[in-house]
Amino acid sequence: MGWTKSARGNLSLPIITIIICTIGFISLFYIDKISTYHSVLRFKPCSKCTFTKSKNSHTDVKRLENNPLNEYDRYECNHTDGNWVFNTSIKPLYTDRTCSYIDREYACVKNGRNDSDYLYWEWQPDDCVLPRFDPEVALIKLQGKRLMFVGDSLQKNQWQSFVCLVESIIPEDQKSMKKISRGHSVFKAEEYNASIEFYWAPFLVESNTDFHIKFNPNQKIVKVDSITQRAQNWLGVDILVFNTYVWWMGRLKINTLWGEFQNGEEGYEELDTPVSYRLALRTWANWIDSTIDSNKTQIFFTTMSPSHERNKDWGNINGIMCYNETRPVMKRGHWGFGSNKEMMKVVASVIKRMRVHVTVLNITQLSEYRIDAHSSIYGESYGKLLTDEQKADPLHFADCIHWCLPGVPDTWNRLLYAYL
Ligand SMILES: *[C@@H]1O[C@H](CO)[C@@H](O)[C@H](O)[C@H]1NC(C)=O
Ligand SMILES: *[C@@H]1O[C@H](CO)[C@@H](O)[C@H](O)[C@H]1NC(C)=O
Ligand SMILES: *[C@@H]1O[C@H](CO)[C@@H](O)[C@H](O)[C@H]1NC(C)=O
Ligand SMILES: *[C@@H]1O[C@H](CO)[C@@H](O)[C@H](O)[C@H]1NC(C)=O
Ligand SMILES: *[C@@H]1O[C@H](CO)[C@@H](O)[C@H](O)[C@H]1NC(C)=O
Ligand SMILES: *[C@@H]1O[C@H](CO)[C@@H](O)[C@H](O)[C@H]1NC(C)=O
Ligand SMILES: *[C@@H]1O[C@H](CO)[C@@H](O)[C@H](O)[C@H]1NC(C)=O
Repeated sequence: MGWTKSARGNLSLPIITIIICTIGFISLFYIDKISTYHSVLRFKPCSKCTFTKSKNSHTDVKRLENNPLNEYDRYECNHTDGNWVFNTSIKPLYTDRTCSYIDREYACVKNGRNDSDYLYWEWQPDDCVLPRFDPEVALIKLQGKRLMFVGDSLQKNQWQSFVCLVESIIPEDQKSMKKISRGHSVFKAEEYNASIEFYWAPFLVESNTDFHIKFNPNQKIVKVDSITQRAQNWLGVDILVFNTYVWWMGRLKINTLWGEFQNGEEGYEELDTPVSYRLALRTWANWIDSTIDSNKTQIFFTTMSPSHERNKDWGNINGIMCYNETRPVMKRGHWGFGSNKEMMKVVASVIKRMRVHVTVLNITQLSEYRIDAHSSIYGESYGKLLTDEQKADPLHFADCIHWCLPGVPDTWNRLLYAYL
């Protein structure tokens, strides 16, 4: 991979290839790991948890009445504009040691990250105060409900954050994590009869690379009109949170298949990526509009999570991607190469035309600032922790796509929590 070195910072194509390689390395191994949660759980009881005793509906109601969420006007607050405030009195609700549900690729401290400033930044919108995430209130809101995150490995990042934010108040024998089919995992909070689930669908629509990863982008084919079969698994869910972005970003064009073709996968066409993305999102939107009863189901869409592969975007000419960054970008409105505005426009225009209301969790701008909070060299490569040699070669091995947990996805969930 020596060629990437000379090209770094100048050509976007090699960088994009790095991104895709990294996604290949990093995101696709969760499926087998989930089965280990059970054993992990059994041997590592959470010692610092404060367990809530059984509650009745009366105290639940009281708890909700006293909840600052009720005063928060979720539709007036524009959470996209604001700044990160450093505050060492914030205590994250979990660590990667107390919460056993975090994949190793996000468990930065366990993997040796020893700077901690990145944990103490709090997102402060300009014209309102975001309510703090209260695990008990969140669980009460989810009582008798299913919450499902559908999408790619960044969505998995957000899902694990959500699970960890609530799990510490649930006694050991009242919670479980199960992989119920390939790509579908369910965390259950028994006492609340609530489930917090993840469904793997990196393009939302189907593709030939969802499970059997094709590392050569030329071999990837996205079936932009195929969603019905997998979407059966989303029926009956009360709160659906979708995303899809980073898997589209391998090349300027993407092999796109739709309709019935005699020749099977041979009938694809190469389309510009935003064109193909629009077709897929419209397939998704049509499924929502024709299937979802908006009185029963809340729909969210998490916007693209920025990657930070191009250090010159934030003026660190001598840096190596996000490696060794310990402070957020402070320049207001900073926007880098990792967030494609054209793709964002596609999302906005598709959602605007939908019949069913979709709440956009617009996390892009706030996450753009956080060059300091990626897994970097404290993640994985091909499902294995980085060796010391690999750690010493951040140009090839730093993960500047995914985020440490605890970390930035907790803020995404703070937004989600405000809308529950
Ligand atoms: C929030 O601010 C962003 C950026 O200024 C803007 O694009 C968006 O329309 C605003 N949303 C609302 C609901 O005011
Ligand atoms: C810092 O966090 C503490 C505790 O959460 C809070 O009381 C305080 O208002 C915060 N300070 C700022 C400047 O936001
Ligand atoms: C933190 O980790 C880095 C390498 O990851 C190491 O060089 C440094 O000595 C460590 N600092 C402390 C205080 O342990
Ligand atoms: C538990 O929640 C599911 C929906 O997630 C619901 O179908 C079921 O009736 C609930 N069970 C009880 C005992 O409340
Ligand atoms: C949703 O609820 C509203 C008010 O309760 C009702 O007018 C509307 O017909 C319902 N929509 C559907 C699709 O059931
Ligand atoms: C990482 O940053 C620290 C301080 O910001 C600096 O002293 C160190 O040399 C940097 N390491 C590398 C490998 O760039
Ligand atoms: C998200 O916010 C950005 C500004 O930060 C805005 O440009 C973009 O249109 C918003 N996206 C959606 C889908 O509303």
